[in-house]
Amino acid sequence: CSVQTGSNDMTLSLSRRAFCAGLAGAAFARPAAAQGGETLTAGVSSVQLAPPGYGQTEVWSYDGTLPGPVLRARQGARMTRRLVNALEVPTSVHWHGIRIDNAMDGVAGLTQAPVLPGDTFDYDFALPDAGTYWYHAHTNSMEQVARGLSGALIVDEPAPPDVDRDEVLLLDDWLLDPETGLFFDDFSNPMMRSHAGRMGNLLGVNGQYAMRLRAQQNERLRLRLINAANARIFVLRLQGMAGWQVALDGMPLAEPEPVTTEIVLAPAQRVDLIVDVTATEGEPAGLLHYADDDSWQALVETEVTGRGASRSREAPTALPPNPMMEVPDVTAAETREMRMEGGAMRGMASGRFEGEQLGFRELVQRGQFWALAGQVDLGEAPFARYDRDEPARIALVNDTVFPHAMHLHGMHFRTIGADGATGPMRDTVLVMPEERVEIAFRAHNPGKWLLHCHMLGHAASGMTNWIEVA
Ligand code: C2O
Ligand code: CU
Repeated sequence: CSVQTGSNDMTLSLSRRAFCAGLAGAAFARPAAAQGGETLTAGVSSVQLAPPGYGQTEVWSYDGTLPGPVLRARQGARMTRRLVNALEVPTSVHWHGIRIDNAMDGVAGLTQAPVLPGDTFDYDFALPDAGTYWYHAHTNSMEQVARGLSGALIVDEPAPPDVDRDEVLLLDDWLLDPETGLFFDDFSNPMMRSHAGRMGNLLGVNGQYAMRLRAQQNERLRLRLINAANARIFVLRLQGMAGWQVALDGMPLAEPEPVTTEIVLAPAQRVDLIVDVTATEGEPAGLLHYADDDSWQALVETEVTGRGASRSREAPTALPPNPMMEVPDVTAAETREMRMEGGAMRGMASGRFEGEQLGFRELVQRGQFWALAGQVDLGEAPFARYDRDEPARIALVNDTVFPHAMHLHGMHFRTIGADGATGPMRDTVLVMPEERVEIAFRAHNPGKWLLHCHMLGHAASGMTNWIEVA
């Protein structure tokens, strides 16, 4: 049973049994959502998140489903959606990981005005890169994403790899009241913002608390894992399957990497796996996650029904590279240091907020707990300005006692190790306490781009900054 309480929440004491009791009759995966029309409507709907026997949860969602519809297009095509705001609050949509025109990036207050209730906004952008991406609200995202405003965005390679099935698995957690099945809180708990973030007590995939897949022995699946949770870092293991990582954050790896150990998926990160089902009929198979009580729990269960191909296949080959995957030459680039400070247990001396230098206590009174490079809000000036195509190098220095999932909009980057070795391309990198992670990229995409923590409670209370590319 994959029910957990947030590890840092003294205020919550949800009964594990209350949820687990209802876990018997699990639903099968619903068929892949058909691509919607040309609109995407953000509105209120009711869905069955909690196990049967509990009430439905009133959520905010796209097109009435949670998660929103899987949006899917060919590499090189355009994505056009008219956002219709049927909510009672302003909203906007961010297309996470897409190398997008800045005006379409969806960040209310930086790249567009928030879309008011009853209004619409036309998103229209090219899809230069194949891969697994996602979309989510970017106006008060701490609350809006937690209420359900997210979905998968899949860009297909011109010649997709040879697999029997392609499954999108959007991982999430929800913080529900076990008595009612409604959201537990009002999304403003300062304890969660100043600690590890807002952790749910019910984990699920594709909006289902007990997601099941059907497969046959020796079938080859492409699993597209997306972490859409507000703060939870998923630690995952394959069961009854052997597989390879073939892409991270949408970007193909140069060589498929066999999965031999745990897969760590921080908020907003994605991993594409190609897996072969090794379990025989009746044997357990699927995806396990490391739960807060130090046990491995099923997150996706696969029911193995018979045998597909008579024997397993050769290892998969690499996905075709996307354009602009070259390793940037940053030897001459100046390293700009972005210090991450604040939070419970350590705090910080002061930070800049609303044009003033404020001490930590004053910031806390204003609901702010964190700073990036001394800056608590967006401020007047970006953290860094780059000329078009300039090589950029930023050191993310975690001076807090919590991990942070740092996300750059508009461009992917590579990490540079102390020995100078470059990592795979990513748009979100996990920076552990006391860790210093250097990232490098060519500043090829003009505009104003956020650089923020994707633990959304952190982003809402100080961990949001930005860069500008001329
Ligand atoms: Cu996925 Cu600024 O966000
Ligand atoms: Cu953070």
